Amino acid sequence: MDAAIIEVGPRDGLQNEKQQLNTQIKVNLINRLADTGLLTIEAGAFVSPKAVPQMKGSAEILEQVLLSNPQCHYPVLVPNMKGFEAAQAAGAREIAVFTAASNSFTKANINATINESIERFKPVVQAALKNNIKVRGYVSCIAHCPYEGFTKPKQVIEVCKTLIDAGCYQISLGDTTGRGTSKYIKSLLQELLPIVPADLLAGHFHDTYGQAISNISTALEMGVCSFDSSVAGLGGCPYAPGASGNVATEDLVYLLQSYGYCKEVNLTKLAETGRWISETLKRPYTAKAGLATLAACS
Ligand code: HMG
Ligand code: MG
Repeated sequence: MDAAIIEVGPRDGLQNEKQQLNTQIKVNLINRLADTGLLTIEAGAFVSPKAVPQMKGSAEILEQVLLSNPQCHYPVLVPNMKGFEAAQAAGAREIAVFTAASNSFTKANINATINESIERFKPVVQAALKNNIKVRGYVSCIAHCPYEGFTKPKQVIEVCKTLIDAGCYQISLGDTTGRGTSKYIKSLLQELLPIVPADLLAGHFHDTYGQAISNISTALEMGVCSFDSSVAGLGGCPYAPGASGNVATEDLVYLLQSYGYCKEVNLTKLAETGRWISETLKRPYTAKAGLATLAACS
């Protein structure tokens, strides 16, 4: 068995950036990430350009990267039927629907309550599965909601179960604000695992409070083997003010390789890609394992 990395930098990483990158830079980023050995790269989002202008051009990007590296998986976010139709037309073979354990966040993010979002997703999931398009489900605010405060495991479990029953093959547990700690993640998984087994779960930990690697280690020890991460630790959510990036893929790769997982990923190439995209965005490059790897090479 191996662990799986879902690189979300080109979507989660760029959706919150003030600077709008052009399509060619985004395509280069995805192709460089594929060249590091990463197999699953979230390529964009078919959402309203008024809601998230940074994700404009996702159709063109998906079409181009599918041609460059057809062996890779390129999931894209889809909030509704309109988004699904556009993603399908661009050749998507995997989509992700997204809701939350908090009504206030879901309302701010996709203008629906949790229940309304599930009703909206059901026909999307059915249409996708009918067309052999895999569907992943995101549940945001698994630990904390920027509007409602800390989350209780019960709120998370219900939504996860509903999304699995609706046909999602995996649920990504989103610690949107990065407020979760190892202690909470352990208690959440203790309650969740008897209902949704570990092989149907992924961790999506934002690193706002510096807890992401510790949360991943806890989830890994409890049997979860899929993790979302973002090159250079880019990211955030426009509807979670103050939330910083996902765990850096460089740090995740370093951790997973110590367990013998994800050996195919080249950490040096990944660090070079992280440094390049940070420079392109005029941000300091801060991924610790990336910096250490580059320093060791020089
Ligand atoms: P709404 O305003 O209720 O939608 O927004 P609507 O159906 O009333 O349509 C309003 C306008 O949007 C119309 O255009 C539609 O055509 C258009 P107008 O007539 O005004 O010109 N529209 C679309 N355009 C393109 N693609 C579409 C689409 N749908 C409608 N799919 C809606 C509801 C869901 C569309 C909107 O709120 C939205 O797009 N939200 C996306 C928010 C988002 O992308 N958030 C970030 C991703 S989630 C995240 O980051 C968390 C995660 O990382 C996990 C974690 O960290 O926790 C996944
Ligand atoms: Mg996120």
